[in-house]
Amino acid sequence: MNVYEKLEQIKKDAKEHIGLVKSIHALNEVKAKFLGKKGSFSEIMMLMKDLPNDEKPKFGQITNEAKQIILDYIEEQKTIIEAAIVADMLKSETIDVTLPGKKFEIGSLHLLTQIQNEIEDLFVGMGYEIMEGPEIEIDEYNFEKLNLPKDHPARDMQDTFYISEDTLLRTHTSPVQVRTMLNNEHKNAIKIICPGKVYRRDADDATHSHQFMQIEGLVVDETTSLSDLKGTLLAVAKKMFGEGREIRLRPSYFPFTEPSVEVDVSCHNCNGKGCNVCKGTGWIEILGAGMVNNNVLEACGYDSTKYQGFAFGMGVERIAMLKYGINDIRLFYTNDVRFNKQFK
Ligand code: PHE
Repeated sequence: MNVYEKLEQIKKDAKEHIGLVKSIHALNEVKAKFLGKKGSFSEIMMLMKDLPNDEKPKFGQITNEAKQIILDYIEEQKTIIEAAIVADMLKSETIDVTLPGKKFEIGSLHLLTQIQNEIEDLFVGMGYEIMEGPEIEIDEYNFEKLNLPKDHPARDMQDTFYISEDTLLRTHTSPVQVRTMLNNEHKNAIKIICPGKVYRRDADDATHSHQFMQIEGLVVDETTSLSDLKGTLLAVAKKMFGEGREIRLRPSYFPFTEPSVEVDVSCHNCNGKGCNVCKGTGWIEILGAGMVNNNVLEACGYDSTKYQGFAFGMGVERIAMLKYGINDIRLFYTNDVRFNKQFK
């Protein structure tokens, strides 16, 4: 085999070898085998010195061309290998969208939160602000400023958890109203609702809980009257129990309001005819309310000859129980998912 034939042979070998290579690493090895220092071409160079001088340049040129051809093979194979790597990767990372997915249990807002949100929405729509306050209160704000001095018999209506002689767990959210009136530097109009947890020293049973939720409201300005109160509470009744509802006010007593009323809503279950939900009367008591007592306005820095207002308070649990026929208040706090799930 002369050098020309040898050169052809090397090209042929290289083409075959390179075509079989499957990895970049192996490709580099093959490249060294043909083009490296100890590769096939070093042998050719040795043989070149035996050629007649006038043939050497031409042979040199052919050799260089052959090298270039081999480099081209390598480059081509490299492209093929890289494409295969990407294809492999795509294949191994494919997501099968037809496989069944993992099912997530999605929670929901607690029923009491839902009712609270609904009532808040209604009042915010009527221009009220939402105010919150501490659950640990001072006696002065929870009772005294609300026209309930120490030893007042009406304190018995709200059996209290005392923390010390002067601090207690608030028995209603009325102290938030006291705070709002006291904090109002301009002593001008107020329109707020106060949602939150309250505490009473009751023994827990189906209708009593030592902790429950209230939403109270307060409007103070120069003209607000009992008929404004009635219209406002009718809106609450309709929102919570349906458009067809009516309300009636019965005289009552609260130390912080005068006059005071108990508010009944026509029964949503029997439409007022009388059933077991309304105990045959056609009416259900839903909240207490009244015109703010002058003593309260004065105690909170308001001139009662100029300002007047109304206040109301409702129990969120009671509304939820009536609306959904829930017969045990403890269901709200025991977090049985079978109960909570029903109100998604
Ligand atoms: N604060 C009263 C209570 O918790 C509710 C109420 C508020 C009644 C405002 C009348 C006016 O019992």
